[in-house]
Amino acid sequence: MIIGENIKQAALIIREGGLVAFPTETVYGLGANALNPMAVAKIFEAKQRPSFDPLIVHIHHFDEIYALFSSPISHWVQKLAEAFWPGPLTIVHKKSTSVPHIVTSGLETVAVRMPSHPTAIALLKASECAIAAPSANRFGQISPTEASHVTKQLQDIDYVLLGEKVTLGIESTVVSVADEGCFILRPGVITAEDLEKVVPLCSHNPNETIGSLSSPGLLHSHYAPTKPMYLLDNTMDILPPHSGIIVHTNKKNWNTAQAIFITSQNGDKKEIASNLFAAFHTMEDNKAIQQIFIEPVEENGIGIAIMDRIKKAVFKYK
Ligand code: TXA
Ligand code: MG
Repeated sequence: MIIGENIKQAALIIREGGLVAFPTETVYGLGANALNPMAVAKIFEAKQRPSFDPLIVHIHHFDEIYALFSSPISHWVQKLAEAFWPGPLTIVHKKSTSVPHIVTSGLETVAVRMPSHPTAIALLKASECAIAAPSANRFGQISPTEASHVTKQLQDIDYVLLGEKVTLGIESTVVSVADEGCFILRPGVITAEDLEKVVPLCSHNPNETIGSLSSPGLLHSHYAPTKPMYLLDNTMDILPPHSGIIVHTNKKNWNTAQAIFITSQNGDKKEIASNLFAAFHTMEDNKAIQQIFIEPVEENGIGIAIMDRIKKAVFKYK
């Protein structure tokens, strides 16, 4: 595994069918040439990801959608791209025949995103191909927001590309798009209110085919540390021994905690999102901690996406 900043070398690895982890504005991705099924298979192996969970294809130019989506392309795709690309929005639309089945786990739709992170864009340009990339973590574990989070979880990667800081910290909003409008499959920093200004929101997935899961990756338990994690009850003052606590303001003095991670001094939701997975990783790595408590946030705006990730992390321990 090489760790460095050489975009040309990383792009050559992508072109030759290898795996490159790279930063995006949301989280680190684990990339391979999206049109090379053998290369894409290596992503599933490296992550130990089940083959039923489809990948997001990353592009750097809007016109690349014509090779990935099948015609007729819903006019909402262009509207969404104008409003939110490059950025943390993934668009799921009926796929063209050139997208390999391994990328979409056999679904008739493909997920596409144009990231805004300068290193991701530079890699996409230099590779001269679309890059399929899930988050660069082991399946079900904590998404990476720093290169060290990637190298700690994954070994079978050819190159880990370093770059500017990941700013948003939680994965993109995923929407399914058809002529009727769009449906949110995974909440993110781009909220329902943001989307509604551009396209009608549907109450059901317009691309759902009977008998298939609408978004197989949207499992109840995900993004989870291996240690038990519990939602903090606000009547709680004393924590059990060896507890770590993640809070979103510095209002209360948690002197019974073994370790405290404050994601934001004043409850700023963007700041909480950007530090959430770093908090998970810090608690996971702290050997003195046996269980983790996390404060909930109000479920509005970006708070919906933050609570989505927190609920998935605590799901097994409710
Ligand atoms: O911010 C992000 O989206 C990051 C960066 C690297 O771009 N990527 C990411 O990928 O979070 P991943 O694989 O961890 O999550 C992709 C999600 C999964 O929940 C998957 O099931 C869903 O998108 N997805 C992918 N293709 C789909 C499709 N055709 N239909 C429905 N859901 C799909
Ligand atoms: Mg993921």
